[in-house]
Amino acid sequence: MKGIILAGGSGTRLYPLTKSISKQMLPIYDKPMIYYPLSVLMLAGIRDILIITTARDVIYFEDLLRDGNHIGINISYAIQDEPNGIAEAFLIAEGFIGDSAVALVLGDNIFYGSNFGNIVQKHSQLKEGGIIFGCYVSDPERYGIVEVDEELNILSIEEKPKNPKSYYAIPGLYFFDNKVVDIARQVQPSPRGELEITSIIDKYREKDKLKVQLLGRGLAWLDTGTHESLLEASNFVEAVQKRQGLYIASIEEIAYRRGYINKDQLIRLAEPLIKTDYGNYLIEIIKQEEGIK
Ligand code: G1P
Repeated sequence: MKGIILAGGSGTRLYPLTKSISKQMLPIYDKPMIYYPLSVLMLAGIRDILIITTARDVIYFEDLLRDGNHIGINISYAIQDEPNGIAEAFLIAEGFIGDSAVALVLGDNIFYGSNFGNIVQKHSQLKEGGIIFGCYVSDPERYGIVEVDEELNILSIEEKPKNPKSYYAIPGLYFFDNKVVDIARQVQPSPRGELEITSIIDKYREKDKLKVQLLGRGLAWLDTGTHESLLEASNFVEAVQKRQGLYIASIEEIAYRRGYINKDQLIRLAEPLIKTDYGNYLIEIIKQEEGIK
């Protein structure tokens, strides 16, 4: 399976923070926001990744993540000229997707929870149909919403409904088979002028090819849409990392634990970070392993 991170948009809801830099480059505590969605794809075992961003911002993402070789993955880049909607990602990525299935993660979505790595790894095996998640939220009118019955049959999919039929928001992580490119071509712009991801999801539902996994209390899906929620996301990451001593979205750690890079490569990645807790954390991973042996 291939992976796409959509890191476009104008970020106007976070002005003036995002007036001259990409939202997905903002800090979530100790690392740039894009580390979080990137870590999700890496946890799923996906190693071919396309980052779609704006013409203005692409050089900064290239500077930060390069071709991914240093963390054992392949990263390429593409441009979304206008914020035409999430579904456009599949049209922009058509050549990259080729004949693969594909996972799409939104560059501003942060996930954290026990067993999450196993969940996404399982879904990355998808060959047919589509898989979405459902997360209980208190403000469903702000998101794509999935309505299910007791047997988890999907009854409806709606984008930011005024009168939501359920409290299950669809977070920005989607797994689709190769038909998604053709389906994206059929999508018409919504009243807000965007090619909506929920239109694609609904087409899979109509064909009875859609599955939903409801994520329970043990899974945190963090919002970064407002200044307040941005700060809360940073505070959450800080609290978990401090208490557990385990880092969230350390792409270098994931690369090492997955066997994409070896011990020497991890040390080399830690060296320029050595003045930070993050750099020391990476070194500590190796020390602890050696201590155990
Ligand atoms: C987008 C999607 C929506 C989804 C949300 C998740 O909303 O359109 O379906 O629930 O991302 O973050 P937007 O970011 O455009 O408000």
